[in-house]
Amino acid sequence: MNDIMSFGLHRSWKKKVVSLMDINESSVVLDLASGSGDLANLIKKKSNCSCIIYDANTKMLLKAKKKVSDGIFISGKAENLPFKNNVFDYVTVGFGLRNFSDLNKSILEIKRVLKKNGFLLCLEFSDINNDLFRKLFHFYGKIIPKYAELFFNKKLAYNYLIESIKQFPNQIELSKKLKKNKFNNINVIDILDGLAAIHISKK
Ligand SMILES: C[S@@+](CC[C@H](N)C(=O)[O-])C[C@H]1O[C@@H](n2cnc3c(N)ncnc32)[C@H](O)[C@@H]1O
Repeated sequence: MNDIMSFGLHRSWKKKVVSLMDINESSVVLDLASGSGDLANLIKKKSNCSCIIYDANTKMLLKAKKKVSDGIFISGKAENLPFKNNVFDYVTVGFGLRNFSDLNKSILEIKRVLKKNGFLLCLEFSDINNDLFRKLFHFYGKIIPKYAELFFNKKLAYNYLIESIKQFPNQIELSKKLKKNKFNNINVIDILDGLAAIHISKK
């Protein structure tokens, strides 16, 4: 569905996220809300680091297992991470934050499990800067559930998509939230004029 919705573009956005990571064999990475493991797969291809593939949905983890070799697969919620403090060099979240039931609690948990100077990289839909492009995208969002129905008989699951994007903090609001939770050096990279954004922040 990601391929259909984004015309395959989500793949290059995820590659961009992983290109920003400075990882090696001794790095410890948590891919949160990993889904079918796209980011984890790219991470493991870049370096033979320790990578935990974590998602609330066990069926998604089964899909990820087929894609990612040599990962560690754990099921659980972002709001209650079953890890000790200061464990990870990187936490990545691709299109996950928007789905968390308690965003603030999840951000606090991410910060707790990151090592000092560790990084959170978050890829998420955001606020399009250009008015016309934003209107076009919102119109396109109305077609997406029809796509989902046509290809996967899953209209309901995608009805919420545009609404959840509208309600999710934009680039500035998310940066403020991260800052409030004591993340530093927050950088934002807009993708397609803000259709999506990568937030990079340091503990
Ligand atoms: C849109 S998918 C993104 C998957 C993948 N990261 C990607 O970029 O393709 C969102 C994922 O977040 C997971 N998820 C939703 N709420 C969660 C939570 N509270 N804790 C952990 N995972 C959650 C879902 O099960 C789903 O696999």
